[in-house]
Amino acid sequence: MFPTTNPTHTKAWQALGQHADEMRKTHLRELFAQDADRFAKHHIQFEQILFDYSKNLFTPKTLELLQQLAEESGVPAAIKAMFGAEKINATENRAVLHIALRNRSNAPIILDGEDVMPAVNAVLAKMEDCCKRIHSGEWKGYTGKKIKYIVNIGIGGSDLGPVMVTEALKPYWVEGIETYFVSNVDGTHIAETLKKVTPAETLFLIASKTFTTQETMTNAHTARNWFLETAKDEAHVAKHFAALSTNEKAVKEFGIDPANMFEFWDWVGGRYSLWSAIGLSIALTIGYDNFVQLLEGAHATDQHFTSAAADKNIPLIMALLGLWYGNFFDAHTEAILPYDQYMHRFAAYFQQGNMESNGKYVGRDGKPVTYETGLVVWGEPGTNGQHAFYQLIHQGTRLIPCDFIAPAISHNPIGDHHPKLLSNFFAQTEALMNGKTAEEAKAELEKSNTPAAEIEKLVPFKVFGGNRPTNSFLVKEITPRTLGSLVALYEHKIFVQGVIWNIYSFDQWGVELGKQLANKILPELTNESTVTSHDSSTNGLINAYKSMR
Ligand code: F6P
Repeated sequence: MFPTTNPTHTKAWQALGQHADEMRKTHLRELFAQDADRFAKHHIQFEQILFDYSKNLFTPKTLELLQQLAEESGVPAAIKAMFGAEKINATENRAVLHIALRNRSNAPIILDGEDVMPAVNAVLAKMEDCCKRIHSGEWKGYTGKKIKYIVNIGIGGSDLGPVMVTEALKPYWVEGIETYFVSNVDGTHIAETLKKVTPAETLFLIASKTFTTQETMTNAHTARNWFLETAKDEAHVAKHFAALSTNEKAVKEFGIDPANMFEFWDWVGGRYSLWSAIGLSIALTIGYDNFVQLLEGAHATDQHFTSAAADKNIPLIMALLGLWYGNFFDAHTEAILPYDQYMHRFAAYFQQGNMESNGKYVGRDGKPVTYETGLVVWGEPGTNGQHAFYQLIHQGTRLIPCDFIAPAISHNPIGDHHPKLLSNFFAQTEALMNGKTAEEAKAELEKSNTPAAEIEKLVPFKVFGGNRPTNSFLVKEITPRTLGSLVALYEHKIFVQGVIWNIYSFDQWGVELGKQLANKILPELTNESTVTSHDSSTNGLINAYKSMR
């Protein structure tokens, strides 16, 4: 097991603190002016992904100290521990092996004395068989019709990954299949979805690691009732419901045929589960071969992460730069900005990835940490974001490091849309870096014949400080393989940060309290008596709700 190290007690952290004071006086413009080769030195080509991190606030000394921080915090040992199936999710006594789900080398991964790969491969074979039977029409619904609609019912990690990937890979959708996702317990979500599908042509995938999640089980029962209203006979459920879960007992109790259960294991974290049986909705939507390509891409990243030198290791660099801004420049949030409409759920996906993983205040030593941990992650696709929130990124008082992601080749090369989109992608990182000086603002106003008195008034508002850091990911094309690689890069970034922050990234106790209280409140909403068991605000709200119904 890797060490429990308070990062602030490392030599590197202390040195970074002093170094940050120097760097606060440095401008990215100067760093580029000083070194004509800055881009050449600070971009990494990994397969079809070009990662440019040169527009970040660092000198060679910064990178050296950050790498030293990773060393002193035990990152290399932690990587070995995760890939070596050690139980690094110590609060749940579990290994963290999403990397096994995409281990295309098939090299044994031994957990508790047993290789996990045969079980992984068996589920993959079952998923492949399911895809074949659904796509060929061999799997027929209860009336003999082909399955046309896939409805995935799940929430959090059992929803966000499949939603994000199927949206990002829309150009790869298998003809004749339409996929929908239901997650919210708000009845509107399932009601609106059921309007679009027919009982005889729908396969419901009940996606839940635990098979106890209130939202998912409620939606699953509603779907089952809706189905039986038409199908009448319980025996027909077997042709229309499958389960993606670790909980065989609960799956059986729900009435799903164990033959239709696609298993995964407690060593797959919910927010890292798209590679597991939870990915069945992906495989059914884009085809099994494309799902394998997604796994291949992620596996390529795993190999890169475990073998690339520190100064060429993309997830390591992403993690260190993120931490640099969060802990030494007081950044509170970071934005993920894909210039690809299909990737519109990418930031939302990594909101869970980052915030559920690294939103922790207790260190691995069981004591509250004395430094900041996880940043708030957010973002929307470009160029929509430009017309909404970029103003604050450019001229606000807060530092917001941003990741820009764009494909060189569009799946929809219509007219000059793509060059226009990409001109914005390039322009934004340039503008964020350089800003606009008072002289430049003045010259612009003079050129547009603005009166001198006006110029003086306007110049302060037109100045952009610049010096806002960005990463750029220029991807040849968004394919299943490149998407798999990209997702895994971000996953490992989260892992490295959690190791350095000395927190447990693979549990999520923080979401339990709300669930427990909701379960306590639910029966109080269905009786007529006045509620007095909570604080005055909660009582007041519940009682007001009861009188409004
Ligand atoms: O929100 C908490 C959480 O446990 C997530 O980590 C998980 O992805 C989600 O709920 C769904 O859980 P399950 O797959 O067990 O239904």
